[in-house]
Amino acid sequence: MALPVVDTDYLKEIDKARRDLRALIAQKNCAPIMLRLAWHDAGTYDKTTKTGGPNGSIRNEEEYSHGSNNGLKIAIDFCEGVKAKHPKVTYADLYQLAGVVAVEVTGGPTIDFVPGRKDSSVSPKEGRLPDAKLDSSHLKDIFYRMGLSDKDIVALSGGHTLGRAHPERSGFDGPWTTEPLKFDNSYFIELLRGETEGLLKLPTDKALLDDPAFRPYVELYAKDEETFFKDYAVSHKKLSELGFTPS
Ligand code: HEM
Repeated sequence: MALPVVDTDYLKEIDKARRDLRALIAQKNCAPIMLRLAWHDAGTYDKTTKTGGPNGSIRNEEEYSHGSNNGLKIAIDFCEGVKAKHPKVTYADLYQLAGVVAVEVTGGPTIDFVPGRKDSSVSPKEGRLPDAKLDSSHLKDIFYRMGLSDKDIVALSGGHTLGRAHPERSGFDGPWTTEPLKFDNSYFIELLRGETEGLLKLPTDKALLDDPAFRPYVELYAKDEETFFKDYAVSHKKLSELGFTPS
């Protein structure tokens, strides 16, 4: 599929889609699953073969049926209403815009959004997203494949400040923080605090404490929310632009 032409008209549609997404997210309280949708569309990127990435391919049944995407059809369907009103906006842009808006409206940092991503109908094979039952070397394998760094891994894991796990989707249960609709640095504070009744820590969350490349960032972000927000915004923008060269 061809690159969308990012002219004044397209930018206007992006602006309207942004407003519609804000309203939708407020109405449905669905910021967490919208952020997860953006991350799972983007997080399949492979820098070596330049395949996967934020290209809207998660809308294909073949891909949203992957086990790691359980539940995300809900977010895809929410976006469908916005796409119907702004058909010019590509799915790839729409999903990444939804992720940026989800962070913003829950109190997180403003993330620079550059439009122009092209849609792909080709889905990567299953297995490119991280497995929550594994360890820090697995996290590095997955994120380095995307071209992301140790710092990106820790900052982006802070996305678990939003939302919760659902037993019927992932087999895990519960939120990471006491306010799962507020984007703040509480994920890191809770991680350092240790087990708390009612709060979740995935094996991959705990791996951030054990690895010497990760732990200093956990400590930094737990005590300095401003730095977390700054770094998160940079890492999220990178994630949202994997394989994409803005024109
Ligand atoms: C939810 C794994 C990274 C954002 C989840 C769930 C799992 C998981 C198992 C629960 C899904 C469910 O049962 O509904 C992982 C692993 C990661 C990772 C292993 C590796 C580091 C990220 C990143 C972001 C993110 C980078 C965004 C920047 C979210 C959000 C939810 C979530 C917002 C909550 C969804 C909801 O409430 O419906 N993740 N994740 N995760 N993840 Fe991650």
